[in-house]
Amino acid sequence: MESAIKTIEIFPDCVRLIDQRKLPLNETYVDCRTYHEVADAIKTMVVRGAPAIGVTAAAGVALGVRQLNSEEDFSEQFDAICNTLAQTRPTAVNLFWAIACMRTCARQYQAAPLAERQDALTAEAQRLLAEDIQINRRIGAHGLSLVPDNSTILTHCNAGALATAGYGTALGVIRAAHFAGRHVQVLADETRPFLQGARLTTWELQRDHIPVTLITDNMAGYFMSRGRVDLVIVGADRIAANGDAANKIGTYSLAILAKEHDIPFYVAAPLSTIDRSLASGAEIPIEQRPGDEVRMVGSQRIAAPEVEVENPAFDVTPAHYLRGIITEAGTAMPPSRASIAGLFA
Ligand code: MRU
Repeated sequence: MESAIKTIEIFPDCVRLIDQRKLPLNETYVDCRTYHEVADAIKTMVVRGAPAIGVTAAAGVALGVRQLNSEEDFSEQFDAICNTLAQTRPTAVNLFWAIACMRTCARQYQAAPLAERQDALTAEAQRLLAEDIQINRRIGAHGLSLVPDNSTILTHCNAGALATAGYGTALGVIRAAHFAGRHVQVLADETRPFLQGARLTTWELQRDHIPVTLITDNMAGYFMSRGRVDLVIVGADRIAANGDAANKIGTYSLAILAKEHDIPFYVAAPLSTIDRSLASGAEIPIEQRPGDEVRMVGSQRIAAPEVEVENPAFDVTPAHYLRGIITEAGTAMPPSRASIAGLFA
């Protein structure tokens, strides 16, 4: 049985998030009671992972609208709420996609009384949350045929239940394989600097009793060269129309290593992560995060406070390194402009 992880819960007057900064040592929850608190939670990584960011932003929009007590200037106030949430993190396109869904919903109810509009927006955010879990289950079902029995799967960052409304994308495929009775084991990269692999991926896989071994990021080549990795599955934050995929920093180097060792490399992501307005990955905005994430490990300083640091949070893997992009609509294999367009047909 899968253990249910409640990454996000949406109530009319509160958005409850598991605090991912504190895992795995403490399982605590943050209750956001204003849309500004939701925006802060996204910025400060209480919640992270592309689909989870999207659902949380949608919940933030609903919360913001719930707190309006007059219809006066509704569209200006609605824009202000959406813009605040849109300015939290730039790379994961699910954020902008989810806010666009909320805008569509608001337009559908524009003639309705405020209370009805508020209820409709809360219901829409809750619908997006439930739909994300169903989508991830479909991604898992599509990915299943790509996972042989007795395989070792390397993954990077956390593309699991914690990075989504539940179940996960890359970890969704692994969950589907495990619960279908395949013998799979996972090598989890620790994923410096924020350690999503060490802190989150190992935590959630262990809860489901899926065998997992933690390695540091620089060990991947060693394990590949010794024939100890059968396939790599990662998530994505934004995929361009040609299949170039932005994901957690370090994904690009892993893909090159996998190619060198002839190891299949898959991206698992919902269609909402595909940004068809971008011709290639060169156009994907890459978030630069604070230097102290690199100068420190947790609360421990490991480098001189004044040392220059660069901290790009994501890199882009060109489509030709990917064997396939697994989505809820099937797998684009190999990824190309045509195979990706086909997913939307
Ligand atoms: O900075 P993060 O933790 O939000 O980055 C998350 C990732 O890069 C994930 O791999 C990606 O969002 C896919 S999550 C299903």
